[in-house]
Amino acid sequence: MLSKDVAAPQGPLSDKLGRPLRDLRISLTDHCNFRCVYCMPKAVFGTRYHFVGHDGLLSFAEIERLVRLFAGLGVSKLRLTGGEPLLRPRIEELIASLAGIEGIEDIALTTNGSLLTQAKATALRAAGLGRVTVSLDSLRDATFQAMNDVGFPVAKVLAAIDHAHRAGLPVKLNMVVRRGLNDEDVVPMAEHFRGTGHVLRFIEYMDVGNMNGWQPEDVVPSREIIERIASRWPLEPVEPLRYGEVAKRYRYQDGAGEIGLISSVSQPFCGSCTRARLSPEGRLYTCLFGTAGTDLREPLRAGDGDEAILDLLQRVWGLREDRYSELRNILRARAGKEKVEMFHIGG
Ligand code: GTP
Ligand code: 5AD
Ligand code: SF4
Ligand code: SF4
Repeated sequence: MLSKDVAAPQGPLSDKLGRPLRDLRISLTDHCNFRCVYCMPKAVFGTRYHFVGHDGLLSFAEIERLVRLFAGLGVSKLRLTGGEPLLRPRIEELIASLAGIEGIEDIALTTNGSLLTQAKATALRAAGLGRVTVSLDSLRDATFQAMNDVGFPVAKVLAAIDHAHRAGLPVKLNMVVRRGLNDEDVVPMAEHFRGTGHVLRFIEYMDVGNMNGWQPEDVVPSREIIERIASRWPLEPVEPLRYGEVAKRYRYQDGAGEIGLISSVSQPFCGSCTRARLSPEGRLYTCLFGTAGTDLREPLRAGDGDEAILDLLQRVWGLREDRYSELRNILRARAGKEKVEMFHIGG
């Protein structure tokens, strides 16, 4: 749905539905040291799964060049994601180079927190990272470990959050809520993060990829989450700050901060979706639910000049008409092409 209160920004480039290109989400690797049941179920992503090899990954220089070109087309916001992006060695060098690109105003990182030591957080901040989003689905080890499926303890993620905070990085928390698995954790999570200054966001479980066995009954609609929290601590809506904000924000009336609700199933937000996505091997996707993407690595490595690549980016965005979440019921029923996986294209 188009945000009513915030006008669509003007950009040099619009897609077929009039949406400008503003954000680039860059997946740095499809590897992850977790096996979250809703993202990389162990049964599928075991030792025999074929991940992108080292030479197949876009190099930092290739990513930097693409970001320069995207910035010229209106991109000002970057999110580094994965897989687990901190598995990519020397990521701070990439961040430093991206932070220097004209037009780039915001660089955020999505991480599971497992590798976010104090030293790493400090290095990321010094390189120019603006903020982090840490995934955390429960405060109970039994539930969290059943979800990450590698026995990773909650305490280490909480420590990572502290490291980020101490390094001066604003923190958001992403909690994917799946009925019967962690919906009992909604109120305890709200209680834990109220008053900390960190923004907890509740994400409706989505049918991304092809492997997580998604069923509509697994989704806990945001409306229900708000009711559960507001019955303990009254909430009031907060106006969006900018066009295309993914999360609907609410504040605690007692001043204990804000939460966000990401309702891509019950209230899709495709109408203001300004996000392009780059996969680890350099394919450009214009929707999280895309199937094929457009290869950018081949022209990069063939030595194409900036003009040719810019032309390709403009053509791809100009032809864009994706709005999967708004058409979910129709598109899900259609047999056929496989969707890109979330660990590949980024959360
Ligand atoms: P900031 O506003 O930059 O802090 O981030 P954000 O609100 O966009 O949230 P973030 O990037 O952390 O994304 C959170 C979750 O929202 C993702 O893990 C997805 O589950 C969902 N999400 C983000 N972007 C999209 C999108 O374009 N389409 C859909 N369907 N879901 C999305
Ligand atoms: N539904 C919703 N969000 C998901 N993520 C991964 N899989 C799903 C899914 N099926 C998101 C979570 C996680 C990030 C890396 O990707 O927000 O924190
Ligand atoms: Fe890894 Fe994030 Fe996927 Fe979990 S949700 S398996 S942490 S990429
Ligand atoms: Fe954007 Fe596709 Fe998500 Fe809709 S489903 S908001 S078009 S990424």
